[in-house]
Amino acid sequence: MKATAVAPANIAFIKFWGKKDASLRIPFNTSISMNLSGAVTTTTVEFSPKYKIDEVTLIDGVFSDTEKERVVEHLDRIRKKAGMNLHARVATKNSFPKSTGIASSASGFAALTVAAAGALGLNLSEKELTILARLGSGSACRSIPDGFVKWKDTFAYSLYPAHYWDLRDILVIVENTAKDVSSSAGHDLASTSPYFSVRLGNLPERIARVEVALKEKDFQKLGEAIEEDSLDMHQVMQTQNPPLMYWNDATKILMDAAISWRKNGLPVYFTIDAGPNVHLICEGKDEEGVVKVLRSRIPLRGTVKEVIINKPAAGTHLIGKHLF
Ligand code: DP6
Repeated sequence: MKATAVAPANIAFIKFWGKKDASLRIPFNTSISMNLSGAVTTTTVEFSPKYKIDEVTLIDGVFSDTEKERVVEHLDRIRKKAGMNLHARVATKNSFPKSTGIASSASGFAALTVAAAGALGLNLSEKELTILARLGSGSACRSIPDGFVKWKDTFAYSLYPAHYWDLRDILVIVENTAKDVSSSAGHDLASTSPYFSVRLGNLPERIARVEVALKEKDFQKLGEAIEEDSLDMHQVMQTQNPPLMYWNDATKILMDAAISWRKNGLPVYFTIDAGPNVHLICEGKDEEGVVKVLRSRIPLRGTVKEVIINKPAAGTHLIGKHLF
């Protein structure tokens, strides 16, 4: 009764912000994302009578009590599905810093779901796994299917496999400490922004544009829609009550830089989640160019903690090598 899963984080091209039902994590809007090859979580889960309580550990880090409780609640959901009540040991490892707006909850809950379901021998379809992962963290459902993924209402599915389009997410980490306000708390206040209803009204057209851009592999069309959606979500965040300000000085320097690099002929667009780190989206052919201009940008020296180059990745899967 032991299994290990590897799950990618994902970057949303169309963001999920605001929940119709907070406890079931039903989103107000459809979102579209790409799985990230370089930002992954590995989790081993073992159920056994030898554990008297659920033991939850983060390798190379510490989970807060609230985070541990969220993991235990998710184990309870999966135990209930399997009709058993053994305690578990859970060990998890991230290839990147958690809680800085790079969706550690997405890869974390996707890996936990697939590992726990695997350990209990639950025979769930991919759709069922996305539904279960969503209950742990909304964006986690998008880390289960392969490549480019759409989440609508209760479940997520793959639009295209990872090899469909050679895109890059050059993730620039400018802050690697935990954020003050979790995205879960932020979602609940989205509707206090006067721009929230405006966002929802504009989304169907923008989602359609992203889908056409993906279908036609039209990078400019995709990039413009991605950047527009990120700015739109942050407008909502910043006008919520109380306001949520996730950007810092380095975030703003990078946003301006991407716009000026583009003016100089380098096709690169930015997108930002619930944190200050910046995802620079470009095509594979421009990876080297983006990394080069990034490195030559003097004001950024010292503020950039790490750069992670991501390609589109497969979804969550079981592996044979356990963490304990
Ligand atoms: C800004 O999925 O982390 O990254 O369901 O409360 O865990 P919970 O929220 P979460 O929200 C992600 C918000 C976002 C946008 C996105 O990834 O779509």
